[in-house]
Amino acid sequence: MFQMKTAGQYPGATEMLEQAAALLSGQNDLVANAANLSSFLFYALEDVNWVGFYFLKNGRLLVGPFQGKPACVSIPLGKGVCGKAAQTRTIQRIEDVHAFEGHIACDAESRSEIVLPLIKGGELLGVLDLDSPVENRFDEHDERFLADIARLFISSLE
Ligand code: SME
Repeated sequence: MFQMKTAGQYPGATEMLEQAAALLSGQNDLVANAANLSSFLFYALEDVNWVGFYFLKNGRLLVGPFQGKPACVSIPLGKGVCGKAAQTRTIQRIEDVHAFEGHIACDAESRSEIVLPLIKGGELLGVLDLDSPVENRFDEHDERFLADIARLFISSLE
């Protein structure tokens, strides 16, 4: 059972987590849940221009369900913000993507970005990526909220 940890730390976070949990409940299909969750986040969060998933396939990150403009299809581990999050298995929260060496620009409007690794049973499944046209859009509260969302997604697959 998914346990929410964010309550009280972020206005609206508990409600959004409950809505997301309801959206995924009763379904454990990876593509179905990634598709609905990317749409949910895209419309629930302000100032985001791309929200979606990359999944590990043949040693690279392959684009999965998303909302936003067409994106880079395949990203090597270690490359760009997504590749770094995947390779290091750590959340990458980038205030200014232009200052990130190796940033891969899919949408020229993107100014800040947060990428969360998705780990299931010790295995890297892929990443959840959010872009914003606003510099420094994502703070530590967003990071905690999105970490809960990532855990919700992983637990929905069981
Ligand atoms: N900017 C990412 C690439 C993916 S797009 O933002 C959708 C990166 O540097 O890895």
